[in-house]
Amino acid sequence: MKDCTILGIETSCDETSAAVVVNGRDVRASLVSSQVDLHAKYGGIVPEIASRAHIERIRPIIEETLATAGVSYEDLDALAVTVGPGLVGSLLVGVTAAKTLALTRGLPLVPVDHIEAHATSASLTADPPPWPAVALVVSGGHTSLYLVRDFLDIELLGQTVDDAAGEAFDKVAAILELGYPGGPVIDRVARDGNPKAVRFPRPWIHEPHANFSFSGLKTAVLYHVYGGGQKYGSVAHLTPQEVADVAASFQAALVQTLVKKTLAAAQRAGVVNVVVGGGVAANSALRAQLQDACTRAGLTLLLTPMKYCTDNAAMIAALGYRRFLRRETADLWLEPRAGLLRPSKTARLSKQG
Ligand code: KG4
Ligand code: ZN
Repeated sequence: MKDCTILGIETSCDETSAAVVVNGRDVRASLVSSQVDLHAKYGGIVPEIASRAHIERIRPIIEETLATAGVSYEDLDALAVTVGPGLVGSLLVGVTAAKTLALTRGLPLVPVDHIEAHATSASLTADPPPWPAVALVVSGGHTSLYLVRDFLDIELLGQTVDDAAGEAFDKVAAILELGYPGGPVIDRVARDGNPKAVRFPRPWIHEPHANFSFSGLKTAVLYHVYGGGQKYGSVAHLTPQEVADVAASFQAALVQTLVKKTLAAAQRAGVVNVVVGGGVAANSALRAQLQDACTRAGLTLLLTPMKYCTDNAAMIAALGYRRFLRRETADLWLEPRAGLLRPSKTARLSKQG
């Protein structure tokens, strides 16, 4: 069979990325331009700044990716682009670039759901693909559990009803005045802290559904640090050791919730493989505890290299390849969307779960 070469484009949040992937697995080039420095001083992503940076970077990054892969537009079989979920202004830049290339180069256009791509990114390194698997997608924008039966049979089992796990890390780091992005710094500071120092809530940990809620956990940290009636109003009254203890205790509550709910979902679904995607997959406590829990439960954990866990276009091209084989292409009316491409019928989002 002739090789199928796909250019993937990803601009859903604050990373501008392009990749050339052959036959859904062979990554010839994958470039990511992060905007983290642009947003750091605001303590979070500013959508307008993100879109503007995407506009400046998208063309150079596509050309550099093609040059790195040693591929020209004539060698491409299709374009795969993230259509959502994400920041609409950011998505619009990638979708417009893809539509422009589809029109000018006469290439088929394949829309890809960003979170489904995270859920299936393990296929870039696992051979054969590890399906069926339960996939935990944890990043600054998403916390979801999926049952991946196959590339084209992906079921959303549940997701956060409020804050994403990475967002909770970022907000707790802001409360503790540790800087942005918060995940890596809490991970580091927590190593010197006692995870049992403060008993923070483990939201819905034993509930028989796959939804998450982390805003209450974040608020519990806020009350603990600021004191009753906002007596202190800042973290200044805590010693560095107490800050480390709060960071470790918060991380323990969040990680334990993620681990327990992921294992319960795998057991309910009757699958043995567990995969993880998203930036929070870098968390050392999550990796260690998930590995430990999976080993004890007789499940196989596949940890994808971090470059494919954080936002990247290789995962978009990889899933785009499967959709292209099924001729799931779009026309030039394609528009970005803030929400999921295929909202689940089964995942319930009510507080009652
Ligand atoms: O997937 P990602 O790069 O971007 C999206 O949000 O789509 O994820 C970024 C998130 C941020 O919230 C960041 O704080 C979190 O991942 N993160 C971590 C760690 N490294 C990054 N969270 C916990 N521990 C880490 N080591
Ligand atoms: Zn993402």
